[in-house]
Amino acid sequence: MKNIIVTGGAGFIGSHVVRLFVTKYPEYHIINVDKLTYAGNLANLRDVENLPNYTFVKADICDYDCMCQLLRKHEVDGIIHLAAESHVDRSIKDPFTFARTNVMGTLTLLQAAKEYWQAQGWEGKRFYHISTDEVYGALEMTHPEGVDPPFTTKASSAVHHEAYGLKFFTEDLKYQPHSPYSASKASSDHFVRAFHDTYGMPTIVTNCSNNYGPYQFPEKLIPLFINNIKLRKPLPVYGKGENVRDWLYVEDHARAIDLIFHRGNVADTYNIGGFNEWKNIDIIKVLVRTVDRLLGRKEDEDLDLITYVTDRAGHDLRYAIDSSKLQRELGWEPSLQFEEGIEKTVQWYLDNQAWMDNVTSGDYQKYYDDMYLNR
Ligand code: NAD
Ligand code: DAU
Repeated sequence: MKNIIVTGGAGFIGSHVVRLFVTKYPEYHIINVDKLTYAGNLANLRDVENLPNYTFVKADICDYDCMCQLLRKHEVDGIIHLAAESHVDRSIKDPFTFARTNVMGTLTLLQAAKEYWQAQGWEGKRFYHISTDEVYGALEMTHPEGVDPPFTTKASSAVHHEAYGLKFFTEDLKYQPHSPYSASKASSDHFVRAFHDTYGMPTIVTNCSNNYGPYQFPEKLIPLFINNIKLRKPLPVYGKGENVRDWLYVEDHARAIDLIFHRGNVADTYNIGGFNEWKNIDIIKVLVRTVDRLLGRKEDEDLDLITYVTDRAGHDLRYAIDSSKLQRELGWEPSLQFEEGIEKTVQWYLDNQAWMDNVTSGDYQKYYDDMYLNR
């Protein structure tokens, strides 16, 4: 593989994927195709943007002619598709945008790739679609009080799952999406698989749990709350804060993507997760403690910022990924324990206040003009 399009490379996870690929594979040409929506930020890639094997193209994946042209122009062999509308709360307010980008955008890209690749034969081609665990729906909490999460290692997860009949998301589960976001991602996953089954396109789908780490847009729980704690603003906890999410450090996700892109089986699906289940309220307390400690404030001084607010509509109770298949078949496992990952993450946001100020003020959106138009 020589020429690879990464869609959504200016977003949170995409920027980590682009950084990993351009630095690890100098022989590859990485073409970052991103529309630069509110979530796309070229400053996420400032440290690699001048590398000779990196090209940025501002484009919408829904633009069929443009996608066809890009594939031809760069003689693209592989696509790692991350571009999407990604925030559940936004999907509740504006589902159409999610259907447009996540469903029609994915279909447009698939059709463009089919047109370009089919004529050459599928050999050496790969369409890798990045999806979410939310397509599986929500899991129940069947454990008694007192044995609540966090379950932060594979071993502790196994003990509690066995003892209390807790379920994981496994690759063979049927899809049961609840939010417009997860419904749009589920639909896009189906299209990707349909292109394999109908035309023989070499596709792969992975479904990952909640990511955290540097460069995440501060509408998502972890960066939003770190910034609010720092600024002593209220921390809006949805419902009772008892929903459970399985958190994975973003660089571990990027490593998994690298491995699966190169060694994953065509037409296969892999779940990616951290064996790291936390109730929201417990994560929030860890964030308060960590920010306060790193800022030299009194322990737990800011716990009273916690403010319970109306729950998210259709709020999924629990997500937990079983990533044993990926571990068994390709040898991947998370490299960071949560304590280490969260410490690194909080420190990064505190050290990068200029990045946060840029994003929260909207100034980051001028970066494209400075970097590419006014050169
Ligand atoms: P993000 O919102 O941070 O970034 C999305 C990127 O896609 C942005 O750069 C945006 O400009 C770009 N984009 C949006 N619409 C586009 C369009 N029409 N054409 C071209 N580019 C467009 O998202 P993220 O959190 O980095 O998620 C990336 C992918 O991973 C998504 O597909 C998401 O569903 C999936 N995912 C995310 C998580 C998570 O925890 N964040 C977990 C599992 C899977
Ligand atoms: O599971 C993978 C998914 O994780 C990805 O596919 C999505 O793109 C990503 O956004 C994320 O979805 P969540 O809805 O789980 O993430 P979010 O950060 O929005 O919320 C995490 C939990 O925190 C969720 O239970 C809702 C809650 N929450 C969130 C916000 C923003 C709050 O209680 N208050 C808040 O202000």
